Amino acid sequence: MNRPRVHVTRPIAEEAQSRLRAEAEVTTGPSDQESTRRELLELVRPCEGLLVVGHPKVDGELMDAAPRLRMIANFGVGVDHIDVAAATKRGIWVSNTAGSLTETTAELAWALILAATRRVTEGDRLVRAGRWKGFGPFFFLGTELPGKTLGIVGAGRIGQSVARRAAAFGMRSVYWSRRPKKEFEASTGAGHRDLDALLKESDIVVLTVSLTAETRHLMGARQLGLMKPTAFLVNIARGPVVDEAALARALLDRTIAGAGLDVYEKEPEVHPDLLRCENAVLVPHIGSATVETRRRMSLLAVENCLAGVQGRMPALVLNPETQRGLNRE
Ligand code: DGY
Repeated sequence: MNRPRVHVTRPIAEEAQSRLRAEAEVTTGPSDQESTRRELLELVRPCEGLLVVGHPKVDGELMDAAPRLRMIANFGVGVDHIDVAAATKRGIWVSNTAGSLTETTAELAWALILAATRRVTEGDRLVRAGRWKGFGPFFFLGTELPGKTLGIVGAGRIGQSVARRAAAFGMRSVYWSRRPKKEFEASTGAGHRDLDALLKESDIVVLTVSLTAETRHLMGARQLGLMKPTAFLVNIARGPVVDEAALARALLDRTIAGAGLDVYEKEPEVHPDLLRCENAVLVPHIGSATVETRRRMSLLAVENCLAGVQGRMPALVLNPETQRGLNRE
């Protein structure tokens, strides 16, 4: 039997790569950057499987450039860069690595919350610049968490995991999601709110929604204007969920107190006004970036990919309705 061909767009954990190589002919993209669109179109052409690492656009054109493609395995949870409907139409399964990065990403949300409210990175910059003149009773005051309200926007796995940690900091939680989640409410005491009410009530707002047409610029000038001037915004979801220019304005005008951002509208570019905001903690899309999590993601993505190219429905399939063998060579 012919071994399936798989293209992996960036190298992943070696253990997972060798598992893949044991059962497939594998090509791998560069480690230091994404392949160009033109390179990717060429690399994917002979393949049955594509393992997507990073966020290259995987659309109908790319799928059509690879007539044998049967399986697109994403390394990560968010698939806003993959046209899942186009894949379904072409009989291609799409999978993600849901569940592999929940706690790690929730931890980063808390790192950003603490760093923003206690001005950690701003303090670090001050010390390194030699501008620290010593202890003072009113010097570098931050905001404490006990008694405050955490507002979770999107109560999926990661949102719920962020909320579960709130009690440890003496905080209560409210959340917004399309439908109330009774089990989550019962286990955390979190109350369901509509988005406007959540924004008015919360001291810390954490965005954890997937990026869709409905959530693009979910946080624009109007929504930021509903937040308390003492409140903080944390985004661990996707950059375009926030109107970055409006956020930079709110931060510079201090109509909100601060922000912690892991994701940006046009990564790796960051809106130049955000770079001027002392009250913003900016990190480079590292929500799932721990050794342990990246290993789990690598192994899961490979298992999904191998299942798909071998004709078995992957465990973490996003389009199980896909009718295999349609319109493919
Ligand atoms: C995810 O899992 O969505 C991460 O942001 C990497 O894409």
